[in-house]
Amino acid sequence: MNFLGLAKKRYATKKYDTTKMLSPEVIASMKEILRLSPSSINSQPWSFTFVTDRVLKKQLAAKSYANEQSINDVDLLVVFSVMDDVEHFERRNIAVLPKDWVTGFYEPMIRANGEAAVKSWMAHQVYLSLGYFLSACISMGLDATPMEGIDLEAYRQLLAQDGYSPLFAVTVGFADPGDPMHPAAFPKSRFEMDEVVRSI
Ligand SMILES: Cc1cc2nc3c(=O)[nH]c(=O)nc-3n(C[C@H](O)[C@H](O)[C@H](O)COP(=O)(O)O)c2cc1C
Repeated sequence: MNFLGLAKKRYATKKYDTTKMLSPEVIASMKEILRLSPSSINSQPWSFTFVTDRVLKKQLAAKSYANEQSINDVDLLVVFSVMDDVEHFERRNIAVLPKDWVTGFYEPMIRANGEAAVKSWMAHQVYLSLGYFLSACISMGLDATPMEGIDLEAYRQLLAQDGYSPLFAVTVGFADPGDPMHPAAFPKSRFEMDEVVRSI
């Protein structure tokens, strides 16, 4: 299927088929796909936590408000996190980049705006990997749900990952054919083309 076909097919799945499992090979491919995510100046300020442990997943689900059921119904929850410490980020991720990327872009356009701007830009990079990941999932015949509706502080404590803060999570699995949010039953709602796309 071409990309437009996949874009029409992909949707934020609300009800998963609990009888279908993800293979270890598929999970391994998803890890590699995320590792290859693009980011501005290849800054990669992220960490992707693949949660398949049922006990931990249940604990996270209990801290995920309306998303609890979906998380319990899938084999895989991926938590997307951003690096906390800007100094560490600059030493580990920025210092290794070509000099002109740093002096020509990072320093004058990002760092010059202060720490809050750097942190916001870092989080933007993680969000980019979300769009990329959702497209990858549907291209692999998988359904997924991006989730900002999670208790970030509880996730931080449960994941106990030094130096990183969770931003959002994604469930991955196979949609239940009876999902009332399936596009066949609940057509996608979007603004009209001329309201969002301008051709000059
Ligand atoms: C960053 C982000 C966070 C989202 N958080 C949630 C969530 O917590 N729970 C949920 O069911 N859907 C969540 N969604 C799904 C959106 O509601 C959904 O993408 C939007 O309504 C468009 O529908 P579609 O993806 O099915 O086309 C989120 C989507 C994005 C991009």
